[in-house]
Amino acid sequence: MSEKYEIGLGNNDVDIRKNAQSDFISFWDKQAHNLTWFSPWERTLDWNSPFAKWFVGGKINASYNTLDIHQKTKSNKPAILWEGENGDSKIYTYGDLFKEVQKFANVLKSLGVEKGDRVTIYLPMVPELPIAMLACARIGAIHTVIFSGFSAASIKDRIDDSKSKIVITADGGFRRGKIVKLKEVIDDAIKDFEFVKNVIVLERAKNEITISSKDKLWTDLMQCVSDSCDAEKLDSEHPLYILYTSGTTGKPKGVLHETGGYLTHLHSTFQWAFDIKDSDVFFCTADIGWVTGHSYVVYAPLLHGATQVMYEGAPDFPDMSRMWQILQKYKVSIFYTTPTALRMFMKFGDQIPNSFDLSSLRLLGTVGEPINPEVWKWYYKVIGKEKCPIIDTWWQTETGGMMISSLPGLETIPLKPGSGTLPIPGVEISVVDEFGTEVPPNTKGYLIIQNPWPGMLQTLWGDDEKYKTVYWSKYSDCYYAGDYAVKDEDGYFWILGRADDVLKIAGHRIGTAELESCIVSNDDVAESAVCGIPDEIKGDVIIAFVVLKEGILTDRTILEKALFNKIRNDIGAIATPKEIYFVPKLPKTRSGKIMRRLLKSIGSGNTIGDTSTLDDVSAVTEIQKIVENKS
Ligand code: PRX
Repeated sequence: MSEKYEIGLGNNDVDIRKNAQSDFISFWDKQAHNLTWFSPWERTLDWNSPFAKWFVGGKINASYNTLDIHQKTKSNKPAILWEGENGDSKIYTYGDLFKEVQKFANVLKSLGVEKGDRVTIYLPMVPELPIAMLACARIGAIHTVIFSGFSAASIKDRIDDSKSKIVITADGGFRRGKIVKLKEVIDDAIKDFEFVKNVIVLERAKNEITISSKDKLWTDLMQCVSDSCDAEKLDSEHPLYILYTSGTTGKPKGVLHETGGYLTHLHSTFQWAFDIKDSDVFFCTADIGWVTGHSYVVYAPLLHGATQVMYEGAPDFPDMSRMWQILQKYKVSIFYTTPTALRMFMKFGDQIPNSFDLSSLRLLGTVGEPINPEVWKWYYKVIGKEKCPIIDTWWQTETGGMMISSLPGLETIPLKPGSGTLPIPGVEISVVDEFGTEVPPNTKGYLIIQNPWPGMLQTLWGDDEKYKTVYWSKYSDCYYAGDYAVKDEDGYFWILGRADDVLKIAGHRIGTAELESCIVSNDDVAESAVCGIPDEIKGDVIIAFVVLKEGILTDRTILEKALFNKIRNDIGAIATPKEIYFVPKLPKTRSGKIMRRLLKSIGSGNTIGDTSTLDDVSAVTEIQKIVENKS
């Protein structure tokens, strides 16, 4: 059906899949022995569907497994090679990280943070971000990191939901040479929250800030504490973090991950997928504010005592050569990035990457969105010089770690550009129809996961019911991922995009409901519908259709500007639509459901297909005219 690339790294562990298939619970039990436990577990899995507890009775600590265990052999080994956007750089060895994390854990304790308390972290990509996360993990506090591109209103909802006692932020962060005033955003977000006791402020950009009685400076606090803090012996299922992600309702969901299972999943997948060796230099370009950064910047590389590059800024700043400069400078051997970034690099041609020495590379990866086969091939030829396998890893905030990927650290299988290939060992995935019946090969269906897996979310923070409904109610005892997929004749999976009302814009997840309720909160707006249309670089971009209330005379240009600002303020710049169309009515079914599929086709300039269920066909013609006139 499609081209195959036979390229591997010489590994071939044939038994592992066999063992995993015969008994996934014993299989994961064996994998968990790769971690260091304070006391062993009594039961591998308690499955009270859909609630899983992995390694029940075991005691463990994530900070201990990423730091303490390396001190004898790797205290002088670089853990983080940090590159600031403005050219600053710093190296943190495993010894340095160990010391800083213990100190910061003592800071948190001195401010009254206890096991189970929530701590919100809103920091740019600086080493203090993993330090703060690992310090929370060390004392059993639950971190909730918010991407530093989110606005005050988004942060407010998340802090309120998690009832964080402490917020950690910076004066500012650098983004494309400008300073993003993070502290100002936090001041605005927490002004009504009595329950936030303190804000810890890291001075990164040295911009002017207002200091209130709640505020403490990171450097002042770090001067007053000892550098020794024992890791808490925590239950395996003790919550490690909450990470908010967009779903199909207006409110972001607090995905809760626990400790022992999550770390087991990460330890194994990092080894299998990246074939990690002591000599490797790993570089994942994800921001820690998203799950890829949590799992494959913070926890997985550090579990393995790997050396990694962490970059603070934008991939195209000050110009398109920045990534390749970093790869050359640090002799990166494993590079993990997104299709959006690759599409952008590809657009600027081969000459830029070709003028750098990328010969240190031995493995390439992508994550977050479907990769077009032509971009895959460009990555393979121009960046990997036809000698690096490419892993296309499918997973989600909810899955915690990779679920579908080729695994060069384990086996050599033919790669097909655009396919993630096979599920990881110990995980069973199917493509089914509306009724849960497996569809024949090469037929589109819904992707489901059939068994519990160790990295899986524990629940949604404070909302077990929603957890059940969103993920476990469409198909009984199976996890519904919300993606369309195809399984081909070789059993390879091809992810076709979201099947629900979630948009993927440049790999970031944005809920249509969240965006629509933001638009509708403008007094002049009666109704709104948003959808994604294909974009050469970002995969998809957002377009919004807006129906105004009767008799609104406000100038449309002013209104459009107001809506753009509102979206930036309430959600963040990543949710800004490419176009806003003011339309007289939205296309709806007779039962009143907005037909986003039609809007998507109109916005993309495609034929609109079947309109037989439409309540009023004239709505479509009018919208088509408006879209044509604007383009
Ligand atoms: O639609 C799938 C897409 O990203 C969604 C998960 O988004 P998020 O929770 O933000 O996590 C992204 C990073 C793991 C999925 O439901 N997705 C993720 N990886 C891939 C992908 N789509 C196609 N191919 C991938 N490799």
